[in-house]
Amino acid sequence: MHYDPRFPSIADLKRRAQKRMPKFAFDYADGGIDEEHGKRRNRAAWQAVILTPRYLRDVSHTDLRARLFAHDYSLPFGVAPIGLGNMLWPRAERALARAAQQANIPYVLSTFSTTELETIAQVAPDVCWFQLYVPQQVAVMQDLLRRVKRAGYRVLVVTIDIPVGAKRNRELKNGLKLPFSVTPMMVWQCMLHPTWSLHTFTATAGSPDFVNIAAYRTRADQGLAQFITDFTMHGVTRERLAMIRKLWDGPLVIKGVQHIRDMQTALKIGVDGIIISNHGGRQLDAAPTSAHSLRAAAEIGAQTTVMVDSGLRTGLDIVRAKALGAQLAFCGRSFLWGVGALGARGAQQVAHILHDEVERTLKQLGCDTFARMDQSWLEA
Ligand SMILES: Cc1cc2nc3c(=O)[nH]c(=O)nc-3n(C[C@H](O)[C@H](O)[C@H](O)COP(=O)(O)O)c2cc1C
Repeated sequence: MHYDPRFPSIADLKRRAQKRMPKFAFDYADGGIDEEHGKRRNRAAWQAVILTPRYLRDVSHTDLRARLFAHDYSLPFGVAPIGLGNMLWPRAERALARAAQQANIPYVLSTFSTTELETIAQVAPDVCWFQLYVPQQVAVMQDLLRRVKRAGYRVLVVTIDIPVGAKRNRELKNGLKLPFSVTPMMVWQCMLHPTWSLHTFTATAGSPDFVNIAAYRTRADQGLAQFITDFTMHGVTRERLAMIRKLWDGPLVIKGVQHIRDMQTALKIGVDGIIISNHGGRQLDAAPTSAHSLRAAAEIGAQTTVMVDSGLRTGLDIVRAKALGAQLAFCGRSFLWGVGALGARGAQQVAHILHDEVERTLKQLGCDTFARMDQSWLEA
């Protein structure tokens, strides 16, 4: 597996990514909503979780596996879904999927990905999960789910936390809006980042597009922005979730859950797992941190598979999340900084860094098996 010793942490990769990516692309990945307090609180909340080490134990061998939905993943973290991934770095989605397949960790492809879902299923056949933004039209949803099933996706992840499009000020200031129109400022930023531009605007990678849903755009007079707005439900209802449950016979997960009532409702509907998430601080600036919501989820933890994302940047954070009850943690921006910094090789670099950090943290804490890390390590 590739490892470049100049970038030993995700923070180092982020600094390099910021230099290599055009500003509008970096800001799209890095930005949160409103004043970005929620995004900052996510980090602070993980950092505030204190774990007490136990010594006088043999930790020469560690077991980092996470068993989820009848599959043994080699490591307890995965790649979170990212819309417009190839805009962040050319062919980023393939690189991330390939690295996930090599590392045997889950890769979640976004509905709004810029690589066809059928292609990614071939790149990561053993670890591919599909994230669904629920289409308003039932017939479109049925067709999309048929394609996802046929392609061989193992788990369906329904994102519920986007009842309304987010107003992200950095994106607005950068002129990043639909339909894409290249502003003079963007042209300047692209000129300053020739590697990104060369690959993005030539046949090597191609200009990013919403390839999975393009076929459903039937009205020629409908602009892209309107199409995207009209495409997804403005608030996924319980009834629709129940319909998805009937249509999808594999493992079903909902993503973006924060309130205990929503967790209980989801369980009643029959979902198999939840991803506690505030979308990385990108939807509601006042949202509770994922560390907080995980504590709230403790009462249902035994009944379902609890996973988490938002603000995790180190292996220590992943162990902290496990101590709070998450069986697996997803990372969004951490993986983006990898590809932004080092291109395709960066995806492997992130997996390597997080693997190494999880392992060292477990040993330091006196725990040889990730699955056994629990609240008994939390500071009393
Ligand atoms: C640039 C970007 C695009 C995203 N696109 C999606 C998406 O298409 N679907 C989705 O469910 N979540 C999306 N998310 C949210 C991530 O899946 C995940 O919840 C979040 O990134 C976790 O926080 P972290 O970036 O701090 O790790 C996106 C996040 C970012 C940063």
